[in-house]
Amino acid sequence: MSRPTTASLFGDLDVDVSFDAPIGVESWFCTGGTADLLLRPADPSTLAEIVRRCRRTALPLRIMGEGANLLVDDDGVDGVVVRLDREGFRAVERNADGEVGLVRVGAGADLSRTLMDLARSGLQGLEPLMGVPASIGGAIRMNAGGAFGSIGDAVHAVCALDADGIERVYPADELRFEYRRTNLVDPIVLWAVFKVEQVDPIALRTRIKEIAAYKKSTQPLGDKSAGCMFKNPIDPDSGDRISAGRIIDESGLKGLRIGSAEVSPRHANFLTVDRGGRARDVIELGDEVMRRVRDGRGIELEREVVVWRRPGEEDEA
Ligand code: EPU
Repeated sequence: MSRPTTASLFGDLDVDVSFDAPIGVESWFCTGGTADLLLRPADPSTLAEIVRRCRRTALPLRIMGEGANLLVDDDGVDGVVVRLDREGFRAVERNADGEVGLVRVGAGADLSRTLMDLARSGLQGLEPLMGVPASIGGAIRMNAGGAFGSIGDAVHAVCALDADGIERVYPADELRFEYRRTNLVDPIVLWAVFKVEQVDPIALRTRIKEIAAYKKSTQPLGDKSAGCMFKNPIDPDSGDRISAGRIIDESGLKGLRIGSAEVSPRHANFLTVDRGGRARDVIELGDEVMRRVRDGRGIELEREVVVWRRPGEEDEA
């Protein structure tokens, strides 16, 4: 579809439109290509209309959160990319539904900022997610978390848009949060309500500092990466999940480099990329790590980071 045709498809809506938008460099990897068309809708009803129009015209639609778990191929991505970073998607409402222990947070809100704001008032619930880079929507979709807990533990309800642009609210008892996945099939999260508990703000701040210190001492937080590249796989012997970082480390791959991408010498599940480097190097390095772990350990790693590419290239995870 030509640019004028595509633009006119959304021209009557309250939406910021940009062509060839540099989404790769705005992702946490700070590298990768552009989106042919980037839309920033003002609010959920505009987003619902975009969903319906994309569906009607068979335009691929992708949602970009903070770009924290995303790698955009150097050649960029087709169709429509939507960012939920305008005010209408970032509201934080305390005492949601009149209940002191509930907070409603828009999908476009930043997870770390939200949890720090709540912690300043002594509201506990999201602090296990300290240091996990994500938007609220992205974190819900993949049940983000780590050794200290996952976001699903704090969820009271989630509102999502289905593929027809219809809003549905799911109470926690209809949702299943498993390791890095949920049973939520609707493609777009609009907001989530979290359970929070009033505690001593000083003790909460101490807990947050401990979590941050652990990550700082074990992860290459100063380098460009998207956090862990692979999900922790299930150990064929014990049936338990084991650290992908530990397996990659034990396979002797720390420091392995392809072009501008490197397996971090600090935490082997972090693939880092040099400033001005290529997304393709990261993709190739990831493939090489998977191949060597498969050959050496008989374990199939699964990417946690989502790769966006044009059709015809091997497609996204
Ligand atoms: N380990 C190594 N070598 C390494 C990395 C880890 O031997 O290169 C060992 C550690 O020494 C430790 C064990 O493996 O004994 C577990 O390591 P860690 O505590 O770092 O946990 P992880 O399972 O590797 C998970 C999450 C992280 C999260 C941490 C801490 C996944 C894929 N990763 O890592 O999440 O920060 O726990 O909570 O589930 C992310 O998802 O992007 C991410 C970084």
